[in-house]
Parts: sequence; structure tokens; C-alpha cells
Amino acid sequence: MYPLIRNRRLRTSEAIRHLVRETIITPSDFLVPLFIVEGKGVKDEIASMPNYYRMSLDVLEKEVKELWQMGLCAVLLFVKVDDTLKDNKGTEALNPDGLMQRAIKTVKNTCPEMLVMTDVALDPFSSYGHDGIVTEGKILNDETCEILSEMSVSHASAGADFVAPSDMMDGRILTIREALEDEGFQDTGIMSYSAKYASAFYGPFRDALDSAPVDIKNVPKDKKTYQMDSANRFEAIKETQQDIDEGADIVMVKPGLCYLDIVREIKNEVDVPVAVYQVSGEYAMVKAAAEKGWLDHDSVMMEQLIAIKRAGANIIASYFAKDAVKLM
Ligand code: PBG
Repeated sequence: MYPLIRNRRLRTSEAIRHLVRETIITPSDFLVPLFIVEGKGVKDEIASMPNYYRMSLDVLEKEVKELWQMGLCAVLLFVKVDDTLKDNKGTEALNPDGLMQRAIKTVKNTCPEMLVMTDVALDPFSSYGHDGIVTEGKILNDETCEILSEMSVSHASAGADFVAPSDMMDGRILTIREALEDEGFQDTGIMSYSAKYASAFYGPFRDALDSAPVDIKNVPKDKKTYQMDSANRFEAIKETQQDIDEGADIVMVKPGLCYLDIVREIKNEVDVPVAVYQVSGEYAMVKAAAEKGWLDHDSVMMEQLIAIKRAGANIIASYFAKDAVKLM
């Protein structure tokens, strides 16, 4: 009791604060999202994501080497697909020589030890910008799961270590797990976007990949019939538990900052690693405020990353990974 106990003793210097710090971020906490495009020498800044780029495969090689040298040892791949290759079923996603498949091989050839995770969903390949097949204003569930499982096998064949289904169809983890087992990919893991909310924070990502739902008749304008309602908490636990039962090795909460209550709740509930995706809109907000001089970029970034880890994240997917590691 005061005055014998004075909590401020443990805050008197940076050395003692460091000694008693409960949460520490290291490079190995990060999963680095990368946006891949066709072409040569392409390093295209994304307007709503300052200092983040779409890159062609040759630039990807350099990037991967740099990440590895920085101690960043896991990437999450996304591709931007030409409009002419898009259709309702995302057929191009299954092309063994498609951009994703070549990107996986590029990373593995450049840096074999780099952990490669791949996004599994139809939206970058869909002419309607949805994560599944659209028919009469609806997103078909079971038919989409079939394609997602073929997509997963295709990524595994190209050398992916983990597939990361981000679509929120029911039962897709089981369908994917069974397909991987059938095809001999017992060691290919699944990181499930298990509690993924229908969020307005995904805007800049959809700019980056040109993957927003299109505005035409009989196509839903949002993803609310499959992604979760931001008001729900118990449902997040149910979704996550089901994905684990279906074979998910890692589960994920997305977005990050607005959903840290969910992260903690899930962390307390499950015994598999929990990933958190600090999404594009979260990145954009910090960059924009910092550009205006209204917030200190590095301090706000580190505070947010620490908060995510403190809430229970074992893995943080973040566009800040390189910026953060440079400060460590
Ligand atoms: C697509 C997907 C999205 C994100 C990751 N995978 C967008 C969406 O669901 O519309 C968002 C990532 C981000 O905003 O950084 N299935």
C-alpha cells in the first residue's frame, strides 16, 4: 500500500521500463502482405496506401531478399488480375501458370526458407468483385467452396506453405482441408480468416487490387451476406471454433484495431495461434494523419502494433512491417 508501494518506481528510466515491459514486438511477429502485378520493373505506389506498392515478379525478388535480411520471414501474397481475365467463377485463379502461381514460385526460388501464404478468395479474379460466384443477386456458398479448394490445391502445387481463405463461405475450411489431403498436401497449412467483418476499412485494399464489388443490377454492393456484422461478438467465437474443428491451423481476426476485444476473447477461448490483420484502411489513416502533421507516424504505428500483440495476436499481418522493423 502507498507510500510503501509506488508504482512509478518501475517507470523511472527507459532501462527499468524495458526490463518490466510485458509486450515486445519482434520481426518474427509479422506477416507481410504483398501485391503482385504483371510486367517488368513495375513498382507502382498505391494512391490510398502511401509508400506501399504493387510490384512485378522481378521487383518481388528484390523485395523478398530485403525482407529476409530484415528478419521478416513470412509473406502473404495477393495478385492484381487483368480485367480481361476475370469472370464470375474466377477461372483464372486455377491457371497453373497464373500470376499467383508464378509469384509463389518466384518467392520460393529466391528465398526457399521464406514462409509463403496465399490469399484464397475469388474477388481479385471475379468480374463482379465478389469472393464467390454470383447468381441472381446471391453469392453461392457450396459451389464457391469447390473452387476455393481447387485454388488451394493449385497454390500448394506451386509451393505455397499455407493457404489463407479470406472469403467467409460456410464450410470452406473442411472442403479445402479434404482436397489438400486427397492431393497429398498433408503438410500444407490453413490460416483461416475466421472472424472477418464486413468492414469499411478494406477500401484502400480494393483500390490496390481493383477488386471492389461492381455497381450493376443484381450484384450485391457489399459483402454483408458473407462477412460478419461488426456488432457481433459471440458469433466470432462460433465462427472461429468451427474453423478449428474443420481443420484450420491458424485463425484470424480482421480488421485489427477496432476488433481487439474480439482478439482477446478468441485468444482466451482457443489453443491455436491467432493472427490479426491490421488492414489497409488502418494503414491509410495513420499515413494520412502523419502527412498532415497531426500525429507522429512512428509512435502511433508502434503503439497500435503493441496494442494488437497485447490483445493476443501471435501473428500480425501488417503493411507497417518494414517501417516497424526499421525502428527496432
Ligand atoms: C479479399 C480480401 C480483402 C482483404 C483481404 N482479402 C478485401 C475484402 O474482403 O473485400 C482486405 C485487406 C485489407 O484491407 O488490407 N477476400
